[in-house]
Amino acid sequence: MVTTISHSPADTQALGEAWARSAAHGKVFCLSGDLGTGKTQLVKGLARGLGITACVHSPSFTLVNIYTGGRLVLFHLDLYRLDRREQFVTAGLEDYLQPDGVAVIEWAERWFQDFGGERSRFEAQHLPKRFCWVQIVALNETERRITYEDFGA
Ligand SMILES: Nc1ncnc2c1ncn2[C@@H]1O[C@H](COP(=O)(O)OP(=O)(O)O)[C@@H](O)[C@H]1O
Ligand SMILES: [Mg+2]
Repeated sequence: MVTTISHSPADTQALGEAWARSAAHGKVFCLSGDLGTGKTQLVKGLARGLGITACVHSPSFTLVNIYTGGRLVLFHLDLYRLDRREQFVTAGLEDYLQPDGVAVIEWAERWFQDFGGERSRFEAQHLPKRFCWVQIVALNETERRITYEDFGA
């Protein structure tokens, strides 16, 4: 686990940019953190690090945005509005867990959430190594504690 303190949105973007430069095909970044902690700022950095020039916005109304034109395609998921397990499947979201490119998932904790007693089959300990978990905590108005952890054995 690696912990970084970000002092600005630019810091957070720079971190994402560095991660993206070394990200392999198939990598999945799972982001968790409250509203306004900087998940989308991190995604902006990931896009830049992949060489994507398009403007990144949270896909809150569509569940997924796809950015091409970089070293790898970036699939940007935001599960904020997800409230039923079946939506993973009906929206075709499972495909993005094996992305033909790189995937980043905002509100990733919702993959693992217990919806009405139905446990996710994507248990953290069963996930392959290409998954990583990123947690952002707001320490104050401009400081964020960002922890990065690889999954799998
Ligand atoms: N160190 C920081 N890192 C990221 N965002 C920050 C930081 N300090 C302040 N902010 C502000 O916090 C907000 C984060 O928004 P956003 O990335 O959309 O959050 P989320 O996607 O987690 O809801 C932005 O308005 C940004 O300017
Ligand atoms: Mg967001």
